[in-house]
Amino acid sequence: MNAPLPTPQALALQLDERLRQALARTPQLSVAPQSAHIGALVGGVDLRQPLSVDEVAAIRAALLRWKVVFFRDQHLSHAQQIAFSRQFGELTVGHPVFGHVEGHPELYSIAKHRKANRHTGDAEHRPWTGWHTDVTAAHNPPAASILRGVTIPPYGGDTQWTNLVAAYQALSAPLQQFLQALRGEHRFAPPAGAVATDEYRDLVQARPLVSEHPLVRVHPETGEQALFASPGFLKRINGLAARESKVLLEFLWEHLVRSEFTVRFKWEPGSIAFWDNRATAHVAPNDIFALDFDRQLYRTTLVGDVPVGVDGRSSTALSGDPVLAVHGAAY
Ligand code: SIN
Repeated sequence: MNAPLPTPQALALQLDERLRQALARTPQLSVAPQSAHIGALVGGVDLRQPLSVDEVAAIRAALLRWKVVFFRDQHLSHAQQIAFSRQFGELTVGHPVFGHVEGHPELYSIAKHRKANRHTGDAEHRPWTGWHTDVTAAHNPPAASILRGVTIPPYGGDTQWTNLVAAYQALSAPLQQFLQALRGEHRFAPPAGAVATDEYRDLVQARPLVSEHPLVRVHPETGEQALFASPGFLKRINGLAARESKVLLEFLWEHLVRSEFTVRFKWEPGSIAFWDNRATAHVAPNDIFALDFDRQLYRTTLVGDVPVGVDGRSSTALSGDPVLAVHGAAY
């Protein structure tokens, strides 16, 4: 007979304990939670230097517990960001569809007017518009992303993250059970109502990535169950009628962006955000387009594994290859 699965409360206690033990070995590190469910500020570490094994373990434990960790005053070069990121896993090419920084295949430029933002027409703005989990169109979406702030507006431009484990746990048991059996189709497309520019369409067609993922994903490291419903990528729930899929998705997206599951981060030059892409969604700020200030950040992403649902079934690639590490990628 199979042993019963640990409860969400038991899993959360394990994550607390893992973090407590890791911090006992790294007393120079501090971890200050930023909201009830998500986000912690990590201090007492210089990310320009190679980290000790214990520091890597403590940052990883903080990441798994708090889903996104923030650092301040870390003025890293491109090479230092790449070296820092590599200590946590293999790196993907900057972006599998929108490219990378010249000379640094591991880096993706998050510029204010980047190609991924190019579309025309009136997007239908809804509370969840722009929220996404990175590259869930891929069969193996990144495990984590590390974003470094370089040029930051004096005001505006904050990023928000939401905890998809907390969001899932807040659903009723019957709805959780219903969702566990469902899978959805993820693909690149501009927000509802907007129209892709030719440039956007050409880039997406050159590297078509479409995948079917479970709606509830079991986290490969923590065993936690997360509502894997990236609003930016998930286009329909397979097996449901079109109207059923639309209404259910809109309910789930409205639910997962509820403010109590989220944290909002105010950037400074030298700030770093490191998030667990298997347990979060985030939204890039829109208010910067109402301001004249520039905004420039750089992102690395860690190679992820293929998601697995509560029923043990893995995701299916409908189009495109998995996202490989930089040394194995065809760039
Ligand atoms: C991203 O979506 O990875 C970028 C977030 C941001 O620009 O704040």
